[in-house]
Amino acid sequence: MRKPFIAGNWKMHKTINEATDYGELFVQKLKDEQVDFSKVDVALFVPYIHMSALKVIFLLRGIDVGAQNMFYEEKGAFTGEISPTMLSDLGIERVIIGHSERRKYFGETSAACAKKLNAAYTHDIKPVLCVGEDLKDREAGRHKDAVRTMLLESFEGIHAEEAEFAAVAYEPLWAIGTGKTATPEQAEEMTALIRSVLAEKYGSAVADNIIIQYGGSVNEENIAELMAKEDIDGALVGGASLDAAKFAKIVAFDDSVRKDSLKQVSVKNILKK
Ligand code: 13P
Repeated sequence: MRKPFIAGNWKMHKTINEATDYGELFVQKLKDEQVDFSKVDVALFVPYIHMSALKVIFLLRGIDVGAQNMFYEEKGAFTGEISPTMLSDLGIERVIIGHSERRKYFGETSAACAKKLNAAYTHDIKPVLCVGEDLKDREAGRHKDAVRTMLLESFEGIHAEEAEFAAVAYEPLWAIGTGKTATPEQAEEMTALIRSVLAEKYGSAVADNIIIQYGGSVNEENIAELMAKEDIDGALVGGASLDAAKFAKIVAFDDSVRKDSLKQVSVKNILKK
C-alpha cells in the first residue's frame, strides 16, 4: 500500500518573516483540519534560506522540509550551488530533482538529473524526480515518448533498491501555473505509463512501491478527484501551497474517495474477467 504524499513547492517565494508566519499558521491549520499523519506524508519544498527556521517550527509535527534542487558534487568551486552534504548536515531528507523550471531556465538535463539522483541516494536524501511533457509534445501526440525518455535517462545507473525510495512527480508543463489542470483521466493515463516504464526497468514489485505524484494547478477543489485515481499517490502543489489555509485543505483531502475508487477499480477488473 502506497501512503499518499502531498507536497508543496514554494518555488522562489516568501521572505523569512512570511515563511515563519506561514509555518506557524500551517501547523495550526493542519490541526484544525484534523489531518491524520498516519495516512498522509506532508512536505514543503522551500528556498534554502528558509529551511532551518521551518525545520524548527515543524519539529515533531509531521511536516518534512525539503530542498527544491541541489548539485551533485560534494564540495568545490561551484559558485552558487548547494551540495547534498550541506543538505544532510542540516537534516534535510528530501529534494526535488529536475523540476521543469530547472530544466527550462537553467538548462538542466536528464543526464544531470541522473547524477543528482545518485548523489541524493549516497546521502540518504529521498528525491522527487519531476518529469512532464510540454504543450508542443502533447499536441503532437508525443507526450508518452517524451516522458518515457526523460524517465529512463534520469534513472540511468540507479539500482532497483534505490529507485524504490524515489517519488516521481508527473508535471505536464502546460498545466503548471496556468490554472489548467490535466483531467484526472489524462493524469492517470500518464502516471500509469510512468509506473509501467518503471516496472519494465525495475520489475513490478519495485514499481508498485514508488510514489507517483501529479503536479500542475492542483487546488483544494480538484485534489480529491485526482487522488481517486489508482496510480496517483500524491500531489506536488505550487501556487496553492503558498497559502497555509488552502494547502492544509489540500493535505486534508477526502481520502474515502481514494478508497472507494480503488474498490471500484477492482470491481471493474473482476467484472472484466
Ligand atoms: P502550480 O501548482 O502552481 O501549477 O505548480 C506546479 C508545480 O510546478 C509544482 O512543482
